[in-house]
Amino acid sequence: MPPPRRAALGLLPLLLLLLLPPAPEAANKPTPCQRCRGLVDKFNQGMVDTAKKNFGGGNTAWEEKTLSKYEFSEIRLLEILEGLCESSDFECNQMLEAQEEHLEAWWLQLKNEYPDLFEWFCVKTLKVCCLPGTYGPDCLECQGGSQRPCSGNGHCNGDGSRQGDGSCRCHAGYQGPLCAECMDGYFSSLRNETHSFCTACDESCKTCSGPTNRDCSECEVGWVLEEDACVECDSSCVGCTGEGPGNCKECIPGYSRELGQCADVDECSLAEKACVRKNENCYNTPGSYVCVCPDGFEEAEDACVPPAEAEVTEEESPTQPPAHEDL
Ligand SMILES: *[C@@H]1O[C@H](CO)[C@@H](O)[C@H](O)[C@H]1NC(C)=O
Repeated sequence: MPPPRRAALGLLPLLLLLLLPPAPEAANKPTPCQRCRGLVDKFNQGMVDTAKKNFGGGNTAWEEKTLSKYEFSEIRLLEILEGLCESSDFECNQMLEAQEEHLEAWWLQLKNEYPDLFEWFCVKTLKVCCLPGTYGPDCLECQGGSQRPCSGNGHCNGDGSRQGDGSCRCHAGYQGPLCAECMDGYFSSLRNETHSFCTACDESCKTCSGPTNRDCSECEVGWVLEEDACVECDSSCVGCTGEGPGNCKECIPGYSRELGQCADVDECSLAEKACVRKNENCYNTPGSYVCVCPDGFEEAEDACVPPAEAEVTEEESPTQPPAHEDL
């Protein structure tokens, strides 16, 4: 006997956890640069915290003297280092243990010369990161320069890390190696030596040189050029030569040309009956029709049956000619 469905459902989350491949976790694992940046962020936060902690609020000469002594002291460094890693964070503690001497050297001797800990520690010393706008093992400039990589319209592959190739992945609307060109459906709204902005065309244009439907170079599918503007084909058209139901090239299914316009066909009033079951009502709809049994009638396979006759019909049916399945 199969186990009750409810019990199986209860186990489902657990099963999913066990069956899920470990791949997503591996993908989320921080890169060496991200880990270094995390450590530096915590270190900077530690500097802020310890600065507050030992400031009494007064400004006596004594306090100032003690404070400036503490400011560069090894005691303060130890306090900062203590708060750097959660005790359960193995990777962080491992990195800290390996790099403690570097941090101490910076704190005691190099802080003035290299005030930016991230740059000194992660970029220059550990060489796991690059400065923003640069990429790869040698921290080369991204496409378009390190100031505004990819013209400010895209992401530089490997930006800020020791990885990648510095090529641009452009934002929507932009293309080209420097993301300075506009894609089809966009026009250049501003362009000078350093900046390029692309703006979306009107929905009626496939390509354009400006924002309105009069600026189309080519109309979008389903739109046609009329008096210098792209206009939408009527919903009853398949292709058109202008606006409205009178300018269709062809009519959509369920519509036919009447007095030069595509108009809904009333299937219910055609000579050939649209609804063929006995007693059935026909209702016209735009582009189609529905067949419905009248109120109180019941649906049967080949007729709408009045309630009073329902039982009679059922008894009668075996005496009717055999249904086609029996042939
Ligand atoms: C280019 O355009 C941008 C955005 O309007 C402007 O900030 C910048 O100063 C311009 N640069 C030049 C060289 O004209």
